[in-house]
Amino acid sequence: MARQTDLIAPSILSANFARLGEEVDNVIMSGADIVHFDVMDNHYVPNLTIGPLVCEALRKHGVTADIDVHLMVKPVDRIIPDFAEAGASYISFHPEASEHIDRTLQMIREYDCKAGLVFNPATPLDVLEYVMDKVDLILLMSVNPGFGGQSFIPSTLNKLRQVRKMIDDSGYNIRLEVDGGVKVTNVQEIKEAGADMFVAGSAIFGAAEEHDKNHYNSIIGAFRGQLVMAKV
Ligand code: DX5
Ligand code: ZN
Repeated sequence: MARQTDLIAPSILSANFARLGEEVDNVIMSGADIVHFDVMDNHYVPNLTIGPLVCEALRKHGVTADIDVHLMVKPVDRIIPDFAEAGASYISFHPEASEHIDRTLQMIREYDCKAGLVFNPATPLDVLEYVMDKVDLILLMSVNPGFGGQSFIPSTLNKLRQVRKMIDDSGYNIRLEVDGGVKVTNVQEIKEAGADMFVAGSAIFGAAEEHDKNHYNSIIGAFRGQLVMAKV
């Protein structure tokens, strides 16, 4: 099956939260494809971020791009309807945070969202074998979840190759996303290892003084340039 088009997904975790609507408008206008929305609960991960109210506020502000909700919360099921109603496009969760993975995946699709499973750097892929028909997205963490600005863990490249093969063998249309430490300097090899959806937080939103359209245009253009050069 032909590889799907690349999607660049800025993680708003590194955006200026006081101007979030404008920040999202600017990265989308600068060529980003989808908004990566990191939800942390200070329980599953040691940090606390944003919930359905903020997702809904972005929709009301006029954001029409897909919103890719990455749940780092435990338990998972209670919050799914809230995110679906708030306008989420994708909802993904960590398998160890749900007692009933198959049920949670089905629930996400019942709410008309695309369903994703997220694997931490040391989490094995075994549950995937039984649910390939129920996932629209597989997200490999290339850092331990909880914070932006960490370094890419190189063993993710082999894991990406492994999952790429599983997806291709399955014949299903499943996105392969990578999250953590993705930069202009490593995105080409990440794509070559099999990813087709690239989260970047600190690399795109950068330092405080760089939060403007010109910066986003050039950095997203640089990402795109590297992706085009990848040999797949
Ligand atoms: C980490 C989050 C990531 C994070 C990526 O738990 O899931 O989305 O924001 O940030 P960078 O790109 O800075 O590593
Ligand atoms: Zn994330």
